[in-house]
Amino acid sequence: MKPKFGVYFHIPYCIQRCTYCDFATYEKSQIMPPESYTNLVLKEIQQRKNFYSPQNLDTIYFGGGTPSLVDPQNILLMVSELEKYGFIKGPDTEMTLEINPATLTPDKMKSYIDIGFNRFSVGAQTFSNAQLKKVRREHTAEQTLETLTFLQSYGVNYSFDLLFALPGQTIEDLKLDLDQVIHYSPSHVSPYCLTVPDENPLAKGRPTDETQVEMFDLITQTLTANGYHQYEISNFAKPGFESLHNSLYWQDQEWWGLGLSSHSYSKQTPWGVRYWNVKSIKDYEKQIMQNETLQSPLQLPAAQFENLEKHQALTDFCHTSLRMATGLNLQHLTTKFDRETAQLVLPICDKLVKRKWLEPIPTGYRLTQGGIVLSNQVFLELTFMDKLS
Ligand SMILES: C[S@@+](CC[C@H](N)C(=O)[O-])C[C@H]1O[C@@H](n2cnc3c(N)ncnc32)[C@H](O)[C@@H]1O
Ligand code: SF4
Repeated sequence: MKPKFGVYFHIPYCIQRCTYCDFATYEKSQIMPPESYTNLVLKEIQQRKNFYSPQNLDTIYFGGGTPSLVDPQNILLMVSELEKYGFIKGPDTEMTLEINPATLTPDKMKSYIDIGFNRFSVGAQTFSNAQLKKVRREHTAEQTLETLTFLQSYGVNYSFDLLFALPGQTIEDLKLDLDQVIHYSPSHVSPYCLTVPDENPLAKGRPTDETQVEMFDLITQTLTANGYHQYEISNFAKPGFESLHNSLYWQDQEWWGLGLSSHSYSKQTPWGVRYWNVKSIKDYEKQIMQNETLQSPLQLPAAQFENLEKHQALTDFCHTSLRMATGLNLQHLTTKFDRETAQLVLPICDKLVKRKWLEPIPTGYRLTQGGIVLSNQVFLELTFMDKLS
């Protein structure tokens, strides 16, 4: 497979903070204006451009936060800065923008299309106004529907995020959300099971574990019956509309994350290095304002990178590849590692086949539907703690 490369930009602004969200975002008035944040990201590009070879970009993803809150001019500046250093986008680059309902205007939309965005990911979450209010979303279901109709009028490719297992949510409520999905028929759907710590008020009154499994089954069955393919545990797409950007994360490809709290992966070291930015905007600003040009992620503060050892790279390889329907490819495993290392993985996979958590496929192994529900246990079995030579 030809190596692929993508860039993620984190835009840390929101109209208001949803009570379930743990992402590094701020209400717009609480931090520096977007123009100043953009300047920090431009500096970050200059400082870290040597972490990767200049190359054509397969994907660009603006996530957040709420990228659709900032002036498109700032977004254009960030993309252009990459191009200055040889990270070039073209007509085939998958360019995704996360948008929140009720944040689009015709002017903004024209700018996004001019910049080259060809994929829009809508944070719909649920179409129940009572639920939206409970989690302090800033929009109504009617506004989400307007945003979807607006996107449809441009004929653009869009995806939905759905949240399920919300407090008080029933199977019947979820069916109503799924009816809207089927009605609007986005090319891609990402359903997320709400995850909150026990002390969060939203942890109370949630569907039981059994109901959550039933909800996920209902989502899978409804989407697959309507032409979607579960290409990753939590991602469904119509054929040909799988997210290339998200797939980079699961296919051992490099990506460059820019901006507050973003994570990156570089193959500059023998087994790869994961590195990340701090979560506090003040600390991020301080670090970037030091104006230090770096040659390698290993020059970052020790708390901001992990230079992988072989056993950690093997663990990552098994976990990420098994998230996808394409599964763990034995030839790729042997090419990246070696025959002896592959021999460590095979008996574990065969044991998991006997438990019906994995199934053999011509290229290797993949999760069964039962294995998807128990994926954490599968991943535990394929976690390598001991150093490998
Ligand atoms: C970080 S958000 C950014 C998208 C956009 N700001 C929005 O909220 O619509 C990306 C997605 O993560 C999911 N998400 C955020 N917090 C979550 C949580 N605590 N549990 C499960 N999913 C969550 C939501 O579905 C959301 O659409
Ligand atoms: S709008 Fe999205 S990013 Fe912002 S707080 Fe809500 S879930 Fe988090």
